[in-house]
Amino acid sequence: MLYNKLGLSNIYLSEVGFGCMSLNVKDQSDSKYLIDKAIDGGINYFDTADLYDFGENEKLLGTAVKQKREKVIIATKVGNKWNADKSAWTWDVSKGYINSAVDDSLARLQTDYIDLYQIHGGTIDDNFEEAVETLENLVSIGKIRSYGISSIRPNVFLRFANESNIVSNMMQFSLLDTRPEGYLNTLNEANVSTLARGGFAQGLLFGKPVREYLDHSIAQVQYISSRVTQLSNQLGVLPESIALAYLLKYQRVTSALVGIRTEQHLVKVLKAVDQLSNHEIDFDSLEIPKISYQSHIK
Ligand SMILES: NC(=O)c1ccc[n+]([C@@H]2O[C@H](COP(=O)([O-])OP(=O)(O)OC[C@H]3O[C@@H](n4cnc5c(N)ncnc54)[C@H](OP(=O)(O)O)[C@@H]3O)[C@@H](O)[C@H]2O)c1
Repeated sequence: MLYNKLGLSNIYLSEVGFGCMSLNVKDQSDSKYLIDKAIDGGINYFDTADLYDFGENEKLLGTAVKQKREKVIIATKVGNKWNADKSAWTWDVSKGYINSAVDDSLARLQTDYIDLYQIHGGTIDDNFEEAVETLENLVSIGKIRSYGISSIRPNVFLRFANESNIVSNMMQFSLLDTRPEGYLNTLNEANVSTLARGGFAQGLLFGKPVREYLDHSIAQVQYISSRVTQLSNQLGVLPESIALAYLLKYQRVTSALVGIRTEQHLVKVLKAVDQLSNHEIDFDSLEIPKISYQSHIK
């Protein structure tokens, strides 16, 4: 497992991160076992959000890593505010809301600091200056070590990259979602790490029943997943290793965040990471159909 620097911070993330969103919050012992095993396997980066399971996901992660706090990097998110009966949420990145949400997240995570605090989306109409000033203040008082954004809107994430001290942008990114490709250099030049989520395209890359995906037709999805299978057979490595290699070896990606839900997922992911040094793939030669962002460009 390699560890990569997060933006200009002094935080190092394992090249593969543990996405906690799909963990079973009702069976805490299973989830805690998975998190322990991931740490033993070299994963130090864990991603959650206040939104997931109405905060229960943060509580689960906080409990699981309490005795090993200094060994892990906790990333969580802010901006989605549940309404009173928790039937829907509204978007809020005002100073007042961020300041109360961070305290709630710290309490649920049972920690004094969050390593990476991410704005969970956002629009070009948000009060950018107020949000940035609030996050900068949280860094200065030590409640968060760094801040970033999770956005697939170029006009939003580029503004943060160019006009704030974000260390990262999280984007859905995979062989089936190549939309971030055109932005990696710009983000890199602004010293912003790309954190790739959804690198397995929810398993569509590995033989899950084929369906249309983003702008890809069924035939294109079939073609791309068959290329992954072909390469995996040819090289004698797991298809997960091909999907991760696309993100980690050829792009400016600090970490690939995988949604790990079962022990089998974790075992395969760790093996796939081990196999990364056994193969080098010329992805350009695969002739993968590419897609690009169509909205929120300007
Ligand atoms: N806007 C945001 O900020 C945002 C949005 C979405 C996600 N996230 C973060 O990104 C993380 C990953 O997202 P994701 O779960 O949508 O994407 P993913 O990692 O592409 O998909 C995970 C799914 O892929 C399938 N899969 C097949 N082989 C696997 C293997 N060896 N290991 C793990 N999964 C395998 C599993 O399906 P089965 O469970 O059916 O087997 C699993 O649920 C989340 O946990 C969350 O932390 C952030």
